[in-house]
This record gives sequence, structure tokens and C-alpha cells, in this order.
Amino acid sequence: MSATAGAGAGAGPELPMERRVEEAAAALRELLNGFEPLVGVILGSGLGGLAGRFEGARTVRATELPHWPPSTVMGHEGRIVAGTLAGVPAVGLSGRVHMYEGHPPGDVILPVRVLTRLGIRALVVSNAAGGVRLDLRPGDLMLIADHINLMFRNPLYGPVPEGETRWPDMHGTYDAELREVVRRVAREQRIPLQEGTYAALLGPSYETPAEIRALRGLGADAVGMSTVPEVIAARAAGVRCVGVSCITNLAAGISPEPLDHEEVLETSERVADAFQTLILGSIERFGRLLA
Ligand code: HPA
Repeated sequence: MSATAGAGAGAGPELPMERRVEEAAAALRELLNGFEPLVGVILGSGLGGLAGRFEGARTVRATELPHWPPSTVMGHEGRIVAGTLAGVPAVGLSGRVHMYEGHPPGDVILPVRVLTRLGIRALVVSNAAGGVRLDLRPGDLMLIADHINLMFRNPLYGPVPEGETRWPDMHGTYDAELREVVRRVAREQRIPLQEGTYAALLGPSYETPAEIRALRGLGADAVGMSTVPEVIAARAAGVRCVGVSCITNLAAGISPEPLDHEEVLETSERVADAFQTLILGSIERFGRLLA
């Protein structure tokens, strides 16, 4: 059977999730000739430029894979890039899908589940986020120290696939050793790096000023609509996680300006060079640490 048979989400009656993950993983493995990545990287809004930094890159379109959820967001083209990043075998996902697009949580995390089947040992996540903490400024990079899941759903809801635990422990979700590597690279490269807690809301509406005040009270430093499902899925499979948010705007109510997606993309593109330097330098060291 062709690897692309039945491509596209929602085609035909629903197969059990385990089968969908297996089939998507088998198809990707075949298209990548058995390539074994050490690191997975999720490229957030406007941060997809890192896809161009892979060496010996092989690109697979999301539509070539069965069961892979299609992204509908501008600036989120669905592609899987495999190759080496700073000499480390890696797979990058650009064009993440969000729960607010209407995808069931299990579909949102299918790509990460596939990467865990390909054997990644670490997942690097990135996103665009609004700054909730008052000292954060658009263009800041923030190392994610922890998260708050306010999506009011958990992506692991449902059967437990092979290789995952039913009740993942969420201490140290953002790996202390990997975070220290990112801090060190930031210092050496003189890239200012903030650190804080990322709160994920379902979206797609931006928050009200009252919600942002409430989030600040809850201990959130930044807010976005992604990342948490993928990180939970990776942790369920025992994969170490590390993440960087690009603060693209002040969260609602801090400045009188209305929020818009264009501003988010413009800011993340403005810091793309610093972001790429930080991530590439970190991955180079992760390679040594994880080998
Ligand atoms: N809120 C939610 N998600 C976001 C924001 C925001 O202010 N900026 C970028 N993604």
C-alpha cells in the first residue's frame, strides 16, 4: 500500500489513534529512508526560518502523510524537515496545528507522537506569545520555565498509546539540564534571555484585559495558544523538553494598542536571527549531551 493512501485528516471512518500514529510514523520513516533523529523541533509562528538551517534537508509536506492534521493558519505551512541542525540529526515541524482550528486534541499531538516513535530524545518547542509580566517587551525571548494548561482539555484524554504512561509526572517538564544549556548559549552569544511561565489558552480570540490580570495573578509570565499539548505528549513518552517563547506583543490591557496576528508575525521575524542562533547553539550542545 502506498504510504500516502488515505492522506488527509478526517478521510474515512476514524481509525483508532494507535493505528493512525503507527501509519503516519511508518510513512514518514519510509519517506525519510529510516532517518533517526535525536531532536525534534517545533517551529512557532514566524519562527519557521529555522527550517532553512537544516543541512542535507529532506522536506516532506504534511499532505504526503496519512492522518497528519492540516494547518489552516497563515504563516503555519505544514512541513516536516529532516536533516542535521548544527551537526545533530533533527526533525523540524513547521506549520503546527492548534486546537482552536477545531482539531481534536489527539490530532494536535499526532505529529509529536510520530516523532517520539522515530526515536527523538528531546523536543525543542517555540512559539509566539503575549507578554503578561510587566517587564517583558515585544522582541524578548523567554526560556519557558514551566507552563499552566488553561486549554481546559488534556491531549492525553483517551486510550494510552504504546510507549506512553497513563499519568505522566509533570515535575521538571522543561528539563533543567537543557534549560541551563540554553542559558549558557544565550550568555555566550550575548542574546538577552528572559525566563518565565507560559500559560496556554484555547483561543482563538485574544484575551480580555481582565483575563490578563487574572493570568498574572495565577503566575503566568506569557500567554499563547499552543505548545502545551505537544509538551504533554512528549513528556508522556519520556522525551525531554525545552522551549523558547518569542514575546511578540504586550498582552491585552497593558498597552492601548489592539492585538493582531500581523504584529505577531512581524515581531517574530524581527528576532528570527537571535532565535536561530540561540536554538542552533543549544542543539549543538544537546547533541553531545543526549548522544
Ligand atoms: N495572546 C495569546 N496568544 C498570543 C499572543 C497573545 O497576546 N501573542 C501571540 N500569541
